[in-house]
Amino acid sequence: MKLDILFSPVLTDELFFTGKTTVVIDILRASSTIVEALSNGAKEIVPVGTIEFAVKVSGGMFGGQTLLGGERNTKKIEGFALGNSPSEYTADVVAGKTIVFYSTNGSRAIVKAKYSSNLFICSFNNIMAVARHLKKFNEDVIILCAGNNNFFSLEDFVCAGMLVNELTNGKKKNDLTDSSTSALVLFKAFGKEIHKMLSETEHGQLLIKNGYEKDLKACAVLNNKDVIPFYSGNAIKVLK
Ligand code: MLT
Repeated sequence: MKLDILFSPVLTDELFFTGKTTVVIDILRASSTIVEALSNGAKEIVPVGTIEFAVKVSGGMFGGQTLLGGERNTKKIEGFALGNSPSEYTADVVAGKTIVFYSTNGSRAIVKAKYSSNLFICSFNNIMAVARHLKKFNEDVIILCAGNNNFFSLEDFVCAGMLVNELTNGKKKNDLTDSSTSALVLFKAFGKEIHKMLSETEHGQLLIKNGYEKDLKACAVLNNKDVIPFYSGNAIKVLK
């Protein structure tokens, strides 16, 4: 199994993903929020690349069963029902609902990778479930870090390193690319204290400044969710 990591979606174009098995990671906070929503019974998440498209798509759907969620500059978007805090996506709010979702980096990374043959979403919350599935699946994997406004993001890369570590059982194999090898090193340096690492990253600092400190705790929890979000037919659903 060849494991490669893109530290930002800007490194490639949509066609690169054609036929590939891809895992998208946006720890703060899109992939953590998507995992939370689906594990609390959301029917599906429809990721979109612009706010305008989110409004347009939701307008064509059944009102009561559809919610708009996401953020711009970390904050809830005017007219949206939900922001991008995992804690907002409780069962009583999201169960049975379609959520049209926009976020600065995460939803755009997913949309960019939409031509993948298999597209999964990973966070620290569900990393073992994703790793177990990928091991059984035994295909080459591209891990796409959502990054931060096209730049590198430590928290996504450390999670990618943890996934590589799980998939190789900690042993360095020849089929690791330079970026996978680097992510393994960073995972070993930062992966033992995830919450501390999140609090010290650029995006973590911004979230704390904007009042979302509790989200960092939720995003740092390891393996409290068993769902594997899977993108198919324009929406992310729980893989059965
Ligand atoms: C994103 O997709 O850019 C993030 O989830 C931003 C955030 O809400 O913290």
